[in-house]
Amino acid sequence: MSNCNWKIDTRIIHEKLEPDKKTRAIVPSITPAVAYSFSTAEEAANVVSGLEDGIYYGRYGNPTIRQLEEKIASLEFGEAALAVSSGMAAISTALLSCLKSGDHVLVTKDVYGGTYSFLTSLAERIGIKYDFVDCTNPQNILDGVLPNTKAIYIETPSNPNLTILDIEKIAKVSKKIGVPLIIDNTFMSPILQNPLLLGADIVVHSGTKYINGHGDVLCGFIVADADRINMMRKKIMGDLGQNLNAFEAYLVIRGLKTMSIRIEKHCSNAQKVAEFLDSHPMIEKVYYPGLESHPGHEIAKKQMRAMGGIVSFEVKGGINEGKRFINSLELAMISFSLGDPETLVQHPASMTHAQIPKEERKKYGITDGLIRLSVGLEDPQDIINDLEQALKKVELAASV
Ligand SMILES: Cc1ncc(COP(=O)(O)O)c(C=O)c1O
Repeated sequence: MSNCNWKIDTRIIHEKLEPDKKTRAIVPSITPAVAYSFSTAEEAANVVSGLEDGIYYGRYGNPTIRQLEEKIASLEFGEAALAVSSGMAAISTALLSCLKSGDHVLVTKDVYGGTYSFLTSLAERIGIKYDFVDCTNPQNILDGVLPNTKAIYIETPSNPNLTILDIEKIAKVSKKIGVPLIIDNTFMSPILQNPLLLGADIVVHSGTKYINGHGDVLCGFIVADADRINMMRKKIMGDLGQNLNAFEAYLVIRGLKTMSIRIEKHCSNAQKVAEFLDSHPMIEKVYYPGLESHPGHEIAKKQMRAMGGIVSFEVKGGINEGKRFINSLELAMISFSLGDPETLVQHPASMTHAQIPKEERKKYGITDGLIRLSVGLEDPQDIINDLEQALKKVELAASV
């Protein structure tokens, strides 16, 4: 079912999900099959070569996964999508589709830690070059271009500092240079931001977060033009075995149906939490694009439909105050993930970035007191009360 006048809330539920033709079941069936049969050798060869549409082996796709891929492509206004086994599989596949040994990629300076790790270890081992630049000023991209630059990679809002980059401006720069622009859209989901409509070429998602939204599936998506997606399906995902499986695709299809109301609540809760933190004496700084004081607020209003569910902030003091704060929380749970119904919290300096020397991590905005809060779907006052009591404990400990 499809109707070009539908708004996003309707599209999320109805578009690209037809009732089963035989059984009339509204909920799609799970097809676990790995193998598919063909009437002739010629037909089999045509499906493998792409001359005929079809599915031939589970590592390259599956009917349940195809339904999910069509849905994600449509929500991101892209030609095609590929579902893979994690957000990192999506990111590595997207980068590898643009880069080979000797090529160079310009990367925004605050990217998700896994992306940083992929570039600086595995990609480096296979001869891919990279430079991290501050993309808040697109001129830095032009200044950083080398003859072998083959892609630009950005993340907006960034994890964990919520840096906002102007997608339209950066897309113009990428067109000028003549290389594809890849964007990690995980923090926004396709509901809040559609980078392809702003000129980007490839969108990646960790579907593990808001798209599935229930903390029980690892998955990733790439949305791009159909030729590139076909190449990724056969030559990267298929060869590396990064495929999703049908059962998890089904769970994501199910999770997706409530994405709209989930995201609305995440955003309204996050705005309330950010405003509370912004006026608290124990807080040094709040990073939330919904606050007028955020340097990216105007750009955010232009390219995002709402401000998202992640709030980062700095607790006054140092590493011990940061740890004491998260250890004192009673409702919010200490966790590495985000985008789940539960409020989840992490302290990068003592958790994800603990192995990185202080001066090095500060270059990427990871200060000692920085906290990343994934604001959940609980009552906002309960979340605020929990933050307040934990901050009181930090304050008391600091005063003795
Ligand atoms: C912005 C961003 N991109 C990508 C990923 C990687 O996703 P996954 O854990 O599904 O591989 C994460 C994980 O936290 C993330 O926050």
